[in-house]
Amino acid sequence: MLVKQGLIPAAGMGTRLGPFTHAIPKELLPVGEKAVIEHVVEAMHLAGIEEIVVVVSPHKHGISDYLGSGRRFGVNLTYVVQDEPLGLADAVLSGEHVIDGSFAVVLGDNFFHPKSFLGELILYHISQRADATLGAAEVEDVTRHGIITAEGNRITNIIEKPEPEKASSSLGSIGIYAFEPEIFDAIRRTEPGYKGEYQLTDSIKVLIDSGRKVNYKKIKGVHIDVGTPKDLVWANNWHFRYCGCD
Ligand code: UTP
Repeated sequence: MLVKQGLIPAAGMGTRLGPFTHAIPKELLPVGEKAVIEHVVEAMHLAGIEEIVVVVSPHKHGISDYLGSGRRFGVNLTYVVQDEPLGLADAVLSGEHVIDGSFAVVLGDNFFHPKSFLGELILYHISQRADATLGAAEVEDVTRHGIITAEGNRITNIIEKPEPEKASSSLGSIGIYAFEPEIFDAIRRTEPGYKGEYQLTDSIKVLIDSGRKVNYKKIKGVHIDVGTPKDLVWANNWHFRYCGCD
C-alpha cells in the first residue's frame, strides 16, 4: 500500500478573502515568496507523491497558469473541474476518475511548517493499515474545524464546526488526510451538512459508522488555514520572522 497520488482541493469561493478573491484565487495569495498552494505541492513532493490532482472551479484558470505541468516541482499535475462549490467532499469526489489507489489530500489554502508533516502522516496511515487517517492538532477555535472524539488514536466520532459548548474536545482536523478509495463511496452516501454543503467531515463519519478504521495523527509544527485577511497576515508574519526557509 503506497501513496503515490495527492489531491489538492482549490475550487472554493474564497468569500472571506474578498474582494481579493474577485481577482485572484485565494490559493495563489503569497505566503513568503510563493503562493500558498505551492507550499502544498512541495510538501506532497517531499512525501514521495509523484502525481497530484488539483481541483479547480471553472473560472480559476490562474491556478494552472501559476503551477503549470508541475515539472518545475518534480511532479505531474492533472487539473479536474468541480462545476459548483458544493463542498469539500464534492471537491474530492471530482477527482475520483483519476485516483487509482491510496491518496493524500491537503487543502490548497493551508500553510504548514515543517513540510515533513505529510510524509509522517502517510507513514502512520500505512503502518496502521487504516482506511483513513486525519492530521489533527489541539485547536483554539473549534468552530473552524472538524472536532474529533477518539479512543486511543482511533476516531469514534467527528463533528464539523460545532458550537463551542457542543464540542467534545479541542482536537481538530486540520485539512490533511490519507485515504483509501472507499472514501468515494462514503462521499456518495453523505447528505448535505454545514452551510448546506457536502462536508468531508460528514463523509468520514459515514466511514466510521460503517466500521472502517479511521485514525488521527497529531501534527507538530505550525499550521495556518489562510481563510481570512488576518490569517494571511499571520502566515506571512510567521514566515518572515521564524521560518528561515523558502
Ligand atoms: P474553505 O471552506 O476554507 O474555502 O475550503 P472556501 O469555501 O473557498 O472559503 P469561504 O468560506 O468562501 O471563504 C478549504 C479548501 O477547500 C477548497 C477551497 O478552495 C480551499 O482550498 N474547496 C472548498 C473546494 O475545492 N471546493 C468546495 O466546494 C469548497
